[in-house]
Amino acid sequence: MRQVLLTLSHSNRVRSAVIALPVSRAIVRRYVAGDEVDDAVRATGELVAQGLRVTLDHLGEDTRDIGQAKAVVNAYVTLLGRLAAEGLASRAEVSVKLSAVGQALPGDGEHIALDNTALICAAARDAGTTVTLDMEDHTTTDSTLSILRELRADFPDTGVALQAYLRRTAADCRDLAYAGSRVRLCKGAYDEPESVAFRKRREVDRSYVRCLRILMAGEGYPMAATHDPRLIEIAGALAVRHGRALGSYEFQMLYGIRPDEQRRLAGQGETVRVYVPYGEDWYGYLMRRLAERPANLAFFLRSLVSRG
Ligand code: FDA
Repeated sequence: MRQVLLTLSHSNRVRSAVIALPVSRAIVRRYVAGDEVDDAVRATGELVAQGLRVTLDHLGEDTRDIGQAKAVVNAYVTLLGRLAAEGLASRAEVSVKLSAVGQALPGDGEHIALDNTALICAAARDAGTTVTLDMEDHTTTDSTLSILRELRADFPDTGVALQAYLRRTAADCRDLAYAGSRVRLCKGAYDEPESVAFRKRREVDRSYVRCLRILMAGEGYPMAATHDPRLIEIAGALAVRHGRALGSYEFQMLYGIRPDEQRRLAGQGETVRVYVPYGEDWYGYLMRRLAERPANLAFFLRSLVSRG
């Protein structure tokens, strides 16, 4: 089922049908702050007031049009200006999907994405905050890491997500565990072939722990992005074992998922950052969240049947 949902996340026909359904809206409200920049700023203010940090994602991916890529850059620049104006920029950064700013464009996509992301990084620096690059499917990993290297020459605090389900990721962690390097470790949300990825849950979890060990032992700034209680505990224990002070690493979770746990960790003095998506283009994000959580899918399907 996970595979089916992740395949459907690329279908334009299913997309049109799903976004028209009221039940989709109901589920989206749990995971997405709203359609507008005002919604993003409001949600950020609420989370910051609870002692949490935020990373904001302007929803959208797989941009096939250069004008659309520019519109995404403008949306981030506007958002960053608002965060600065509202005094939220010291607590809130932004997350960027390179495919939303042109990486998937034919020919010169990588250069276009680099130039566009540099504009967002400059706006983030002016606002007093940072950018983290999300990681998409494995065909983009080399290109994303190459763009990261270029960006870090001018913006050394640019972060990146690595996915524990990829077989290559322990090696990528070793390469990126240097001083000042912000690395978000997540399990991975795409449907990847066995040739490049671990597919069994136990294997992915083991890889997550291996990668976490490398990052916690290294000189960089690890960001443990998971809701998995066992992995959260292991991350905390590894931080202690490696003599890391509070604030020299952080936990990250998604908006709407385990909010009590987010507050519990923050209450213990941990740095906890919530990933807050906003915008109208929520279809791909919703499908990935449904794929992760059979209970959500059951709710979705029951609502569809009861409509009929
Ligand atoms: P797992 O899926 O095993 O979930 C553990 C527990 O968390 C579940 O038992 C449940 O209680 C809860 N939970 C998890 N998902 C839920 C859901 N959808 N609804 C309700 N409860 C849920 N991926 C990627 O490929 N590239 C990226 O850049 C990012 N970025 C990113 C940032 C942040 C801050 C987070 C937290 C995650 C990502 N991800 C990501 C997504 C990540 O790869 C992964 O798909 C999800 O976090 C789910 O994996 P868990 O580690 O939470 O474990």
